[in-house]
Amino acid sequence: MVALTVNGVRREFDGDPTMPILWYLRDELGLTGTKFGCGIAVCGACTVHINGRAFRACVTPVSTAENAEVTTIEGLDPAGNHPVQRAWRAHNVPQCGYCQSGQIMQAAALLEANPNPSDEEVVNGMQGNICRCGTYQRIFAAVRTAASEA
Ligand code: FES
Ligand code: FES
Repeated sequence: MVALTVNGVRREFDGDPTMPILWYLRDELGLTGTKFGCGIAVCGACTVHINGRAFRACVTPVSTAENAEVTTIEGLDPAGNHPVQRAWRAHNVPQCGYCQSGQIMQAAALLEANPNPSDEEVVNGMQGNICRCGTYQRIFAAVRTAASEA
């Protein structure tokens, strides 16, 4: 049994604690905003927060979240108005959208840890999140905007 909180709701997971938490979030809780991309921690599409830090849900066992707070894109801000989400809209960042929940969760964790990052820190902090549509320039601009508002 793994006890955890997901988007503010207390949960108990009864299955295999070594299972990637991505499957629990998507398949059992129906939180499909978190995407499956590579499955091997190289694309960032599955990024969620565990106690405020960014984790790749595709390679993170459910047991890692024991007694922890998990936040997915659905729980980042119930109204969708987290500063990063507002900046994403202002810069019209998404193209196909597939990578974007992971990008937003990565950016939110980055700014939580470092509210005033340098350009280099933004690039380094976001470089593990791949966008095959190539929206990198808008992602960078949106992170800068979100940082200035925080
Ligand atoms: S699906 Fe997890 S990093 Fe790609
Ligand atoms: S917007 Fe299409 S993969 Fe990033």
